[in-house]
Amino acid sequence: MSRPPPSRPALSEPIIPSQVPRRQGQATPPPVHLQWPGRDEPEQIQQTAIVPWLCWPARPGVHGQLRLIAGRAEAVVQALQAQGWAGRVDVIHLDPPFGTELDFARVRDVPLADSTVTQQVQAYHDTMDLPQWLSWMRAVLAGCHQLLSSRGALYLHLDFRRAAYARLLLDELFGSEQLLNEIIWSYGLGGSSPRRFQRKHDVIALYAKDVKKVWFQAPRQVATSIRMRGQSKAATDVWQTADTAEDAAIVGAWPDDLVEKTMTNMDKERTGYPTQKPLALCARMVQASLPAGGVALDLMCGSGTFGVAAAGAGAEVLLADMGACALDVARARMLVAGHALTLERQLGSALQIHEISVQLSRQPSGQVGLAAVNWPETSTDLQGLGIDALVAWGLADGKPGLDGQAAPTVLAWWEGSAGRQRPLVAKSLAVAAPEDVRYWLGVDVHGAWWCAPWSAGDMPG
Ligand SMILES: C[S@@+](CC[C@H](N)C(=O)[O-])C[C@H]1O[C@@H](n2cnc3c(N)ncnc32)[C@H](O)[C@@H]1O
Repeated sequence: MSRPPPSRPALSEPIIPSQVPRRQGQATPPPVHLQWPGRDEPEQIQQTAIVPWLCWPARPGVHGQLRLIAGRAEAVVQALQAQGWAGRVDVIHLDPPFGTELDFARVRDVPLADSTVTQQVQAYHDTMDLPQWLSWMRAVLAGCHQLLSSRGALYLHLDFRRAAYARLLLDELFGSEQLLNEIIWSYGLGGSSPRRFQRKHDVIALYAKDVKKVWFQAPRQVATSIRMRGQSKAATDVWQTADTAEDAAIVGAWPDDLVEKTMTNMDKERTGYPTQKPLALCARMVQASLPAGGVALDLMCGSGTFGVAAAGAGAEVLLADMGACALDVARARMLVAGHALTLERQLGSALQIHEISVQLSRQPSGQVGLAAVNWPETSTDLQGLGIDALVAWGLADGKPGLDGQAAPTVLAWWEGSAGRQRPLVAKSLAVAAPEDVRYWLGVDVHGAWWCAPWSAGDMPG
């Protein structure tokens, strides 16, 4: 008699390995630790206060409160704890240097009266070796763990170079049971070589402070299968943002049905900041992990993508970066979106404000005009550019808060630095109460800050 064939799971059913519960009384194995040269040497972190510098009020009807801090992530986490933020942050996004051993620059066209110059501004160096990077990352992640609320979560964005090491650090600091997802973000641009498979994804580790209390709102995505076409389905841990042509190739070769958002090199969203991430990617994290009225933090904000997404959701947002170029782009993006913004500086950070002289005039329209900026002779790369070297300028009611006092309010501001293509500098500004103006402020194409004291009485009529 022939025996019936052994029953097999349907092809679509996953095969689940048998799970053997741990026997009571069985000892918990000792934790696995990552070891590296220098691990046991304490990190030298300059612990200094954060002082407010300048603040811009929100455009009417725009919500979202932002603090943009010039400082190093490892020091900013400590300063935030000292300010009472421990246990209060709901979602943290970290997109650190990946260990590429490259220097990154922002490339942008600067329009002059009758020509255009292409400007390269150094953004950041990604040159820390692995042991240095691990010591740095551990200090940052340990600080983040302190800042997270009990419902909070952290997203750490890396690629094949350092993701495995970071997972071990996170397991050690957060506990391996707090890992919610290892998200694969797949994209279309770059990563090709004839010597290996194309590299087309980054890895985002999502950890909870406490997996039992974490706030999570499952995002939905458009279903593409024939059966569910037109409906939505729960999002998976594979996120894809790629240009359409590449998408077709990837989806065909490695089946995956999540296609969310496009950001090609020419996308309007691009600011020219290198390694800028798509807004859709950060918006998904915000949607899933930021409760209403929550607090969001990004300690290496670059062009500020995560901040734009979180502030757009009405959150209170803390952003930091150590680079002048990043702060310049992030500031511009926030102001263009109309959010209330306070620019702050951690004492000892590289960002400085220099005094300069400018010539202002009162226009017949009542506006304040900018006739000339007298760049110091040492700034040879600004000399030929004159006013055209400005990417933003404005008028404030006091001296930018270098002395730790409350930040002065910016009364009028022109912002031309948000996009990759910069518009011609606007040479006049409308200010409601010229008698309140005490300082002129400017940011040049390198992201350096300048200020000049003046009073309405000084202004030629
Ligand atoms: C990959 S980029 C971030 C890009 C960003 N997510 C975006 O969408 O534009 C990494 C950022 O980390 C910043 N960075 C590197 N080391 C830092 C440190 N010690 N503290 C603060 N920021 C740092 C760099 O200036 C850079 O802007």
